[in-house]
Amino acid sequence: MEKIQEKSIISMRRFQEPDAGEVSELIKKTLTETNSKNYPKAVISHLVAHVTPKQIVKLSHSLYRIVLTEGDGIVATGAYEKKLFRRGMIKALYIMPTYQGYGLGRQIVKHLEQIAREENVRTMKLEASLWCSGVLY
Ligand SMILES: CC(C)(COP(=O)(O)OP(=O)(O)OC[C@H]1O[C@@H](n2cnc3c(N)ncnc32)[C@H](O)[C@@H]1OP(=O)(O)O)[C@@H](O)C(=O)NCCC(=O)NCCS
Repeated sequence: MEKIQEKSIISMRRFQEPDAGEVSELIKKTLTETNSKNYPKAVISHLVAHVTPKQIVKLSHSLYRIVLTEGDGIVATGAYEKKLFRRGMIKALYIMPTYQGYGLGRQIVKHLEQIAREENVRTMKLEASLWCSGVLY
């Protein structure tokens, strides 16, 4: 608990391809430990099987994806997708289970909203359910 509250040691940066393995593990862990509370086991297993580093890299080409790091480790991630007609979507928000509830999700959303504003996006959607999107990570 005390360690996580030292937020100054958590920093934000743009996702890079070498991060894919770690981001994949972070998403799998979050799906397994957090989302499994709301979704059937079969759904979680299906999603976990598809969160490969290769898939993360592939999807990142069309996303503005960021990572939050503590020391050398990635503890959270989130992405923004610019769509046609000045629309955007915030998606793939995953906070490491032990880091949830400390404002990191809010911090990521705030940053991604700012990026969208700078790109003149007028309408933003927030992906809130694993069922809602064909592109999950
Ligand atoms: C949902 C998630 C991204 C929130 O991130 P977080 O860092 O834990 O959230 P924060 O601490 O920044 O909280 C921000 C606000 O959201 C609220 N909140 C956080 N998780 C919530 C939940 N599961 N249900 C309802 N409200 C929630 C907090 O109470 C807070 O509101 P407040 O400031 O008015 O009290 C995180 O719990 C997570 O990774 N969940 C699993 C993955 C997931 O479902 N992602 C979303 C779909 S892509």
